[in-house]
Order: sequence, then structure tokens, then C-alpha cells
Amino acid sequence: MNPTISFGRVSLSAYKAPLLAVALGDDADLSDEVRELDGAMGGAISRAKDSRDFRGARDETLWLSGSAKGPRMVLLVGLGAVSDRTGALRRAAAIASRQANKLGVSEMTWHGGDLNEREIEAVVLGLSAGAWDYTETKTLPPENERRAQLSAVSIAAADSAAGQRGLANGLALAEGHSLARRLAMMPGNLCTPDYLAETAREIAGRHGMEVTVWGRTEMQEEGMGSFLAVAQGTPQDPKLVVLKYDGARNGSAPIVLVGKGLCFDSGGISIKPPQNMELMKFDMCGAAGVLGALDAIGRMKLDVNVIGVIGATTNMPSGTAFKPGDVVRSHLGKYIEVVNTDAEGRMVLADLLSYVRRFNPAVTVDAATLTGAVVIALGHTATGVFSSDDALTTEVLDAGKRAGEPGWPLPLWDEYKELIKSDVADMKNAGGRAAGSTSAAMFLKEFTEGMPWIHLDIAGTAYSETDLVALPKGPTGVPVGTFVEFVRGRAS
Ligand code: BES
Ligand code: MN
Ligand code: ZN
Repeated sequence: MNPTISFGRVSLSAYKAPLLAVALGDDADLSDEVRELDGAMGGAISRAKDSRDFRGARDETLWLSGSAKGPRMVLLVGLGAVSDRTGALRRAAAIASRQANKLGVSEMTWHGGDLNEREIEAVVLGLSAGAWDYTETKTLPPENERRAQLSAVSIAAADSAAGQRGLANGLALAEGHSLARRLAMMPGNLCTPDYLAETAREIAGRHGMEVTVWGRTEMQEEGMGSFLAVAQGTPQDPKLVVLKYDGARNGSAPIVLVGKGLCFDSGGISIKPPQNMELMKFDMCGAAGVLGALDAIGRMKLDVNVIGVIGATTNMPSGTAFKPGDVVRSHLGKYIEVVNTDAEGRMVLADLLSYVRRFNPAVTVDAATLTGAVVIALGHTATGVFSSDDALTTEVLDAGKRAGEPGWPLPLWDEYKELIKSDVADMKNAGGRAAGSTSAAMFLKEFTEGMPWIHLDIAGTAYSETDLVALPKGPTGVPVGTFVEFVRGRAS
């Protein structure tokens, strides 16, 4: 569900919406508009500020009853000491709509002061992200116990061409994020490689994109021995999906986005411990990010060529599964010794990365829930960013910052190649506990020679096991924002 958003500007105290959300910073002064509302509420807002019941701190909320002629309820949301106003607004908007949804308010008006185009976009994305919910596999409570869903949100801001652009782009991004989160949240028995391929076809149909779907047979013909080794333990047909967006229409080199799409990762023969194994349905968040980004890019009609590539399968133990000690020949021709079947994502990506060479990419960006080690290094706050190209690293880190999806660089130096040296093959697929995220990235690097490439390890950021205040636990939408911002930064 995405809120519908309309603009309007009347005095805040006259809004008839049941709920008015007002974002306030931690400075003492109220704007003229908020002061007028405060007056109509008998000074409730200034009293809350003066008494420090509400300080305007980040994530702080306070419910107040509204004014006789205007909104029934007023929700104050704190922005904190703002250094990144766009990010603070996005977060506050998400908190407001999440609160509204919890309370069962179906209509809300948002006020966050004067907003420029980018800020409107951020607010729209925040409002949508906060109201997002996955209900497809839950039985609804009886009618009289059902809470209304937040379905209409209006933003109190001056209508302008820039505002309308911000609104349209915010909605495009919101759709991309929601799609990625829905795919991630779907259980592994429903979100299968087939389902991801179907979703890609549906996106392609809506935007007039070209889509290609390969199964086991086509991949065998292409010699994708690394990807196919992972898919060997499941009867489900693995899928390699290519989605082409021709926005520049001038044959310029495309940006290629690659995503790991493990619809479930049991670890295979090197099976994972049962504790939290269900979370491995989220092992397709890279692929969901590619699909969400392509949908958003299509909606935004960005003037750039983009190709999305996903590798979808399921890593299962079985009588046909690949096993430790096996050596397989990758699509690029390099031999890989399998020492741990749970290091499967890099084996899928290896063949995707060598496959995309045929597009002569301007740059290839991959995103994958690749290693538990990146969670140890960076927690759930930052995406691990790996590249040998410093300018490209800066470009991606900046894009992540703008999107509210921060990343942090980790090394990818030749010294680390030692970690994946094999006695029987060109490399082994796992390098042990030390620098686990870097050894995974070093493995990928072996398949990207001579190609501008950057790798995002989103294992810590694509979903959360705890409530994040602005978002519930579960998928976050990462890396949709980073992908879209990066592509936008290169669009003319
Ligand atoms: N999908 C996992 C990585 C992962 C772990 C994502 C935890 C999210 C949370 C990946 O396929 C994996 O199993 N990696 C192993 C690599 C190891 C065997 C070298 C890991 O991180 O333990
Ligand atoms: Mn694994
Ligand atoms: Zn995995």
C-alpha cells in the first residue's frame, strides 16, 4: 500500500484530516505556521516544548489532541539536531506514518515546513516506507476488529512544478522499495526463482523493457558450472534473469546491476545451524534490490541505459547437491574448489559477473547478502563496499548517503588473495574466519578483471532482526535507494 499524496496550503489549524503530523527540530523557535496551530490548540505545542515533554529530539514522538475546527489529533515528531535535513525528514515521515498505521488512522496530513524537491521526495518515500506492511499470508481479523490502514496522506506544502517532480520521484522510489521489501518478506516456498523471473517479466511488461530468462538448460549450454553447482541440490529450475532498460536510447554503455537471488540458503551439505535459519529466505535481497531499482528507474524514466541481472536459486542439501572437495569450472573458465557449500552466493555471482562482460558495462555494481562477517565488521548500520576503484567507491558511498543507506569501504587488496589459494584449483570458495567479507569480495574480483566493478555486501543492512523505530523488523529496502541514486547520478 502506498499513500496517495496531495498538496495544499491552508492554515494548519484548519486541516480537517483526523491526524496532522508535525515535524519539529530541537531548536526553541516555532515557525509562523506552527505557532498559528499552537494558538488554535490553546498553546499545547509550546507548552510541550517549554516543559521539555517534547524536545524535538530524533525519533521522539508526542500525541496531542488537535483543535476544535481542525485536526482531531496532532502528532509531533522530532527531527533532532539536523545535519542531514533530507534524511531526518525521511525518517520522521516514516515514524509518523508507522504510528498512524498502528493507531488505525486512515488519513493524515504531514507538515514539515518548507520543502524543496528532494525533501518532498524524501518525505514521500518515508511516508510510504513507514506505512508498508506484509499481510499476504495472514488471515484478516473479523471486520469489527480491523484497524483502518493509512491510505491517504497529504503534504502541507506549496504546490509547484518542483514539488510535483519530488512527489512523482518519491512515489517511484517508494514503489521500488515496497516491491523489494515484499519480495524479501515472502517465504521461500512462494518467492521461488520462478516467481522472481515472473516478477521481472511483469516489470518489463509495464515499462517496455526487454527481459531474458534462462533456466538450467541454457546455463549448461553457456558453461555456467559455478552457478549450476549451487543449483545442483534442488529440483527447482534456477533462473538467470536479465532486464534491459534502454533509457538513453543512444547505445551508450550500460550500468549493470547484479543481485544475489538465493530464495533460501540452507548452507547445502555444509548445512547451517537450525537457529534463525528461517532468516535465510532473505538471501535474495540483492536480487530484490535489482528488481525494485529497475522498477523505480522505469517509473522515473531516467535518461540512462541500465541492465539488471539476477541469479536465482535455492541452496539445498540432497543426494545431487554439490559437496565440499568438488572442483567446478566457472563460466569464465577458472576452476573453483568448493570447500564450503555455504559460500554459495559468490559462486552464483562469479558466473553472473563473467556473463555481463558481453554488455561492455560502463560499470557493474553487485549487491549480495554475502557474508555474516560483514555484520561482525559493520553491524546493521552500514553496507560493506568493496572496489579497487577509489573514484567509484566515492561515487557509490555518496549515492548511499543521499539515499539514507550508508556504506563503508573495506579493503580489497591483492595481499588478501592468499586467503582463497587452493591446492587443486585456481581458487577455493571460502577463506576462513579472518577478513571473511574481504575474502568473499576477493573471490568475486577474480571474475571482474578489466571491468569497472564495485561490490556491496548487504548482509547486515538488507533486513533487520530487530525493530528499527522507523521500520519494523524485516526487510529495509536496501539496496534499492543506493542503486537508484547511483544510476541517477550518472543520468544526463
Ligand atoms: N547468505 C549467507 C551470508 C549471510 C549470513 C547473510 C548471515 C545474512 C546473515 C552466505 O551464503 C553464507 O552462508 N556465508 C558464509 C560464508 C562462509 C561459509 C565462508 C558465512 O558468512 O558464514
Ligand atoms: Mn550460504
Ligand atoms: Zn547465502
